[in-house]
Amino acid sequence: MLYERIFLPFFRHASRRAMNFDAGAVQPPVPPPGGNAFLYVHVPFCVVLCPFCSFHRVAYRDGKAARYFAALRREILAYRDAGFRFTGVYVGGGTPTSAAGELAETLALIRESFPVREVSIETNPSDLTEPVLDRLVAAGVDRVSVGVQSFDDELLKEMERYEKYGSRAQILERLECARGRFTTLNVDMIFNLPHQTPEILEADLDTVLGSAANQVSFYPLMTTDSVRRKMTARMGRLDRRRVHDYYFRILDRLRGEFTPSSAWCFSRGTGSGVDEYIADNGDYVGVGSGAFSYVNGVMYSTTFSLNAYHDLISQGRPAITRSRRLATHERHRYEMLLKLLGLRMDRQWMRERFGPGAELSLLPELTALRLAGAVRKDERGYALTERGMYLWVLQMTAFFESVNVFREKMRANISAELEQDDDVEDATVALERVTRWVDRGKEHSLFLR
Ligand SMILES: C[S@@+](CC[C@H](N)C(=O)[O-])C[C@H]1O[C@@H](n2cnc3c(N)ncnc32)[C@H](O)[C@@H]1O
Ligand code: SF4
Repeated sequence: MLYERIFLPFFRHASRRAMNFDAGAVQPPVPPPGGNAFLYVHVPFCVVLCPFCSFHRVAYRDGKAARYFAALRREILAYRDAGFRFTGVYVGGGTPTSAAGELAETLALIRESFPVREVSIETNPSDLTEPVLDRLVAAGVDRVSVGVQSFDDELLKEMERYEKYGSRAQILERLECARGRFTTLNVDMIFNLPHQTPEILEADLDTVLGSAANQVSFYPLMTTDSVRRKMTARMGRLDRRRVHDYYFRILDRLRGEFTPSSAWCFSRGTGSGVDEYIADNGDYVGVGSGAFSYVNGVMYSTTFSLNAYHDLISQGRPAITRSRRLATHERHRYEMLLKLLGLRMDRQWMRERFGPGAELSLLPELTALRLAGAVRKDERGYALTERGMYLWVLQMTAFFESVNVFREKMRANISAELEQDDDVEDATVALERVTRWVDRGKEHSLFLR
């Protein structure tokens, strides 16, 4: 309790401060030594927009999507030309498979351009059709993460997902089609939905255990004030006091069949496969509109306007519009947060990442965490306990809610664009133009140097 009362509010405040980006002229990231980084590709399109979601997402339109993917490919080539060497890629959204052909073409370009070892994509159950699955397999996708949220038909209706993304029976059928076709088939679940009783959660756990998924991520429902206001009428009031009970039900029910890969991700059996989090990679570059990067201790955000994104990339300029250099201690704390999400932080990793003084610099935090029973020290470094896993879920929730507040602010600045529901008229012309630039490749994509 002490930890929740004192440490968490402090942490929430620190997270909000970390999201205070500076606007104005922004120097894009330079590659870290060796160029190695992780690539995050943001695809903001969804067929239906769910009321609980604070991610940067817009209604799918053919022309807008074609124009966007062409710009994405150009931006990715620019990073290649600037000397980045991406070793893994995560395509998130939105719903990346809403334009499966464009996605496949983009993945092919990434594979040609970088020595990627792992490719993960997010999708919705309704997109797991044979043609899309064939495309994903051919594109070398290793991990598919399917947004299920709950298998309860009433909750799916409240979340406005039942019609377009599928009922319990349809989701299970789609997962069966994907069985065995990827190293990792993950289902994303949400717990502590307002009308989710302990019985509904237990039923969801049983269904996950019996499903084709070999990995499951359980996120507590995260909200911001404005999403909560919109959501309450349709989905009911959020009660955060249940998070502890629900989280430990999840741990207990999965025990024996699944092994934790992170505080909220669990893999069937001994836990091999491709994990959801990017802690091992340290530096990451986010491409697309409304994407974040973290390189050499600086956090960046790209423009949230899809129109501005298209224009900037078409002009050969970076899409990054905001940045913030983290102070040394902030940087250590941020990386510790991500690292311990993956359950442990080794001394050797700390030395390699931060230099010899890192353990000393994090001593106050590590001591508080040990006193709270959240981490234990062993010969290699620090490991999260079960209590620590629960506290980490609270910390990550506080962190992502701060990110969501920032996203909302950025989206409020472009409300007129977001409300405009029509497709781009000159999509074909714009696409041809951008494709030509991409074809001209190196010569025109040097803006990141
Ligand atoms: C941003 S979505 C992208 C993939 C896909 N469109 C989907 O709906 O699953 C990725 C995951 O984020 C999680 N998510 C979205 N909104 C959330 C919220 N308010 N609280 C907790 N998790 C959320 C859901 O589990 C979702 O599957
Ligand atoms: S949860 Fe997924 S499908 Fe729903 S709006 Fe968010 S990104 Fe789109």
